Amino acid sequence: MSLAGGHRDFTKGALPAQAPYNSSVPALRPYRDEDFNQLLAIDHTCFVEGIAYPEEELRFFLNKSSAITLVGTDQNKIHGFVIADRFRSRQSANSMGRIITIDVVPQVQGTGLGSMLLCGVEDELRRAECGYVSLEVAVDNQKALRFYKKHGYSVLKTLPRYYLDSIDGLLMGKKL
Ligand SMILES: CC(C)(COP(=O)(O)OP(=O)(O)OC[C@H]1O[C@@H](n2cnc3c(N)ncnc32)[C@H](O)[C@@H]1OP(=O)(O)O)[C@@H](O)C(=O)NCCC(=O)NCCS
Repeated sequence: MSLAGGHRDFTKGALPAQAPYNSSVPALRPYRDEDFNQLLAIDHTCFVEGIAYPEEELRFFLNKSSAITLVGTDQNKIHGFVIADRFRSRQSANSMGRIITIDVVPQVQGTGLGSMLLCGVEDELRRAECGYVSLEVAVDNQKALRFYKKHGYSVLKTLPRYYLDSIDGLLMGKKL
């Protein structure tokens, strides 16, 4: 990953496309192994049982060599994170990105951290020469749907009974 070590504070200097809303938002940095338990706890706060990642699955995504994971942290406490993956598409010579998950703790939602994480990981995917990014979201997750649309994602197709074998998913995508 090109985010080599240390904090990447978007409040100073290189602003993402969408600037944070206030100066007290956490800074972004790459994931470290010791963050794992905090990420697992945040994912289980954000999603119900069955949709939240089991420990092994979260570890699997985080440990992939193609994964890009950023955390939003404020003095050792992580408030949110995003995991993306990269792969080669059969149809195109370019790499594609996929957002695996983006989670912000409920107390911090609506303060701009989700936007920082999304813009930060999109920048990293661009740097890795991904021309497109996709993600899946539940049809009933209105907050996330509005968030992604605001960030330029379009619905590509419906994924029937994608979550818990009962809730439809939406495949969304955006050109980077
Ligand atoms: C979806 C999610 C990642 C968004 O993160 P977030 O930190 O709340 O996102 P932001 O704060 O950047 O933007 C959210 C909204 O707050 C608004 N906002 C941000 N900062 C604000 C501020 N200081 N004052 C008022 N509004 C603000 C944004 O305009 C945006 O408005 P919208 O609801 O009309 O879209 C977050 O809600 C979350 O973690 N949800 C649970 C997990 C989840 O569903 N993840 C997506 C899975 S597919």
